[in-house]
Amino acid sequence: MKKKTIIISLGGSLIVPDKIDYKFLRDFRKLIKSYLRKYKFAIITGGGKTARRYISAADKAFHIKDEDKDWLGIHATRLNAHLVRTIFEDVANSKIVRDPRKKVKFDKLLVGAGWRPGCSTDYDAVLLAKNVGAETVINMSNIDWLYDKDPRKYKSAKKIENIDWKSFKKIVGDKWKPGMNVPFDPKATKEAAKLGLKLVILGKSISNLRNYLDGKKFKGSVVE
Ligand code: UTP
Repeated sequence: MKKKTIIISLGGSLIVPDKIDYKFLRDFRKLIKSYLRKYKFAIITGGGKTARRYISAADKAFHIKDEDKDWLGIHATRLNAHLVRTIFEDVANSKIVRDPRKKVKFDKLLVGAGWRPGCSTDYDAVLLAKNVGAETVINMSNIDWLYDKDPRKYKSAKKIENIDWKSFKKIVGDKWKPGMNVPFDPKATKEAAKLGLKLVILGKSISNLRNYLDGKKFKGSVVE
């Protein structure tokens, strides 16, 4: 039977929330390895605190352009991708993906990172889904659910479990700005909607990810 390919946009906030969260990475590795008979995975890593630290340091030392901030972010995502690829060395493709449009073959697991300025790794994850013919993108970050408005600003924010792409676009907006904080990159949203992908928004819980992969009830939001 042909294995289904799942793309995971792994938020940098889970890899490097402050220090590198090796316990999370250890548990994540264990879980993913146990599903390799059922699925193929492509994991795209975010930049996390590493990206933010480098960008803010450069910005304090000298006023750098947005494009240069993006490049620092991209290099942080690549460093995280090397970290993740290394811990999956026994099963992962030996090269990390930098250009999500370039043809690539893999049997079990692929690790990718940032590509070029003007987007986030969410967009790279969507382009990679298109490239390898995957129908599902899991966005795993430190947000457990999608809300109708920013829950940190509005007490009245309501959880959304299922939503269509058109309504989702209204929540995330349609312009990507460097360092913006939205559940999914607007540029990625536009492309994913066009492709008709399924987007699953999950928090950092490994057991919850297992429930999703098993087709059981899980905590999170589905956009399709
Ligand atoms: P991300 O925004 O994807 O990672 O990339 P993050 O900060 O870890 O975000 P979450 O936790 O996944 O939401 C970090 C930065 O790298 C640059 C952008 O500046 C982005 O904010 N980047 C990343 C690019 O410019 N192009 C890319 O293709 C990827």
